[in-house]
Amino acid sequence: MLKGIIIFLIAFYVGMGLPQVEAQKLHKLTVLANKPGPEIQHSMWGIFFEDINFAADGGIYAELVKNRSFEFYEPLMGWKKIKEGEGKGKVFILNKNQKDTANLHYVTLSSESSNGAFGLFNEGFRGMGIREGALYDLTFYARKVDKSNVKLRFELSDPDGKTFASVKAEGFSKDWVKYSLVLKSSATHSHACLKVLVDGIGKIDLDFISLFPRDTWKNRKNGLRADLVQKLADLKPGFIRFPGGCVVEGYTLDKRYQWKNTIGKPEDRKLNFNRWNTELKYRLTPDYFQSLGLGFFEYFQLAEDIGAEPLPILNCGMACEFNSGEIAPMDQLDPFIQDVLDLIEFANGPVISKWGRIRAEMGHPASFNLKMVGIGNEQWGEQYFERYWKFEKVLKEKCPQIKLVSGAGPDPEGEEFNYAWRQLKNSKADLVDEHYYRSPDWFLKNASRYDNYDRKGPKVFAGEYASHTKGDSNPISRNNWESALSEAAFMTGLERNADVVQMASYAPLFAHVNAWQWNPDLIWFDNLNSVATPNYFVQKLYSTNNGSNVIQILENGAVIAGKDSLYASASVDKKSGEIILKLVNVAKAPVKLSLELKGAVVQKTARMQILSASGLSQYNSLDAPENIAPIEKKLKVSGKTIQLNLEGQTFVVLRVPLRK
Ligand code: AHR
Repeated sequence: MLKGIIIFLIAFYVGMGLPQVEAQKLHKLTVLANKPGPEIQHSMWGIFFEDINFAADGGIYAELVKNRSFEFYEPLMGWKKIKEGEGKGKVFILNKNQKDTANLHYVTLSSESSNGAFGLFNEGFRGMGIREGALYDLTFYARKVDKSNVKLRFELSDPDGKTFASVKAEGFSKDWVKYSLVLKSSATHSHACLKVLVDGIGKIDLDFISLFPRDTWKNRKNGLRADLVQKLADLKPGFIRFPGGCVVEGYTLDKRYQWKNTIGKPEDRKLNFNRWNTELKYRLTPDYFQSLGLGFFEYFQLAEDIGAEPLPILNCGMACEFNSGEIAPMDQLDPFIQDVLDLIEFANGPVISKWGRIRAEMGHPASFNLKMVGIGNEQWGEQYFERYWKFEKVLKEKCPQIKLVSGAGPDPEGEEFNYAWRQLKNSKADLVDEHYYRSPDWFLKNASRYDNYDRKGPKVFAGEYASHTKGDSNPISRNNWESALSEAAFMTGLERNADVVQMASYAPLFAHVNAWQWNPDLIWFDNLNSVATPNYFVQKLYSTNNGSNVIQILENGAVIAGKDSLYASASVDKKSGEIILKLVNVAKAPVKLSLELKGAVVQKTARMQILSASGLSQYNSLDAPENIAPIEKKLKVSGKTIQLNLEGQTFVVLRVPLRK
């Protein structure tokens, strides 16, 4: 009987797997610390910028006025008529009927009552974020219509009409003149708007009404939102892919992204329809256009500011194959190829060259030192390759120093993907752009994806990826810990194979909490604040802990890529003299690690950066931005073996300094 009870109790404890009685498994890992392997590119971990989710207009581009030039398809979109007191009047949209102007339309405000005011207000991009005490630079073009002395008033206010700043202007010329005024806000508000009022009777033509915070990134005019750029700078990204993404391709070819429309004075940049405006039926965004205020000059400057290599992706004569699929006939590809050559000249050419001169006139005589370009975004099929070969031929002849990135379609496997790789194996493409928006499970299973890739073919650019806990763009596919942890595990495989995978970028980068189309995304923001997701912190832990060379980390002679839910990669940083280990445990239970650093003489204290959460469904929000954020700890090291308790569902970066 007693024997029976004992057997039952043993069976009970074993069967239930109770954590308090289960011994933690010990993993003995060996790090070949004195055998530096392939180099890891300085540019390995980068960022993908696309104007999706209000990433540019309404996002990083600090302009507060939506539809500032009245060029949206509905010219008054974003603007509403307003009156004060007994004010009344009319608004007319006029067409300049000029050829060669990017900016065809303007408004006439006609105020018809002497007892009050009449005009327009601009709602901003889901409101305007303004701060108490901050200065706002207002610029606009105006022309007086008749002889009357028109009195204009500009105000920052809340939607109920409470005023936070006010400034007046009068004495307008009969010719178009650009005027500049400054507003100082007396309050902080995330949904302010800009009022443009004519006091009393008067008629005036207005165009290109623009409002920027004085406080932009590096205080530049036509600048970028400083807090959002800071988040990018903190990533210390190796490169910036720009401008996408599908916006490169456009819904139709005439709506493709054309870099030449994005340089020069902002008022001369031709507005473009943003293909994300109508793309996702459950998140239609009719007010999504591209002012192109953040254009190629600002992009190159941003990359330079934050020490990232620019990686422009250019149209290859194909509109988005998910949309119209329109393609340029083979005998009409020259302008597309010329656009690439001209962009290279714009970035690198001497100031006496046609495009180099424009760069210099815009304020940057020195070269931007562009080293690579992508031909086409996410293209696939024969039609892509016959076009790609033409680009490759010309570019390799004329600009042999420029690396070429070629597409491999939207999927990381399947017929089109295999076809692409068969084509590209013997090409002169330097990098092949692979995309994967897949489940956490896919990411875990693919941690060894590159272990057996051909070492002799083109290199891989993991150009767009993100772990989606639910299907693509599902409204509740959150940036939760489950997604971030699976990316951390997968990325050990990218680092381990840094001889093949030479660059990687999470996608998309930004999303406005009130105006997104696609999720998950790396950084979320509203009109005043922003929040880094756990996925961001995973990226940051990789990019700020990038070694110079891969070294092997093994368990029983094998790479660590998912057995017992454990993932690991290792590198040495020759410059700082440290061994850097990335360790990921995706199981719930903690594990014990015994890490033998073979051939290394190490110092007594190592630095641990730990990223973890109280559950897989946890995430960060604007209200709780640091719910999941890395913490730092010191770890004592004695001899060559490090003992480490790796908690469940945790990502750790361990930096072990070598003795000099
Ligand atoms: O990142 C969002 C989109 O995903 C990109 O625009 C496109 O390249 C991919 O399909």
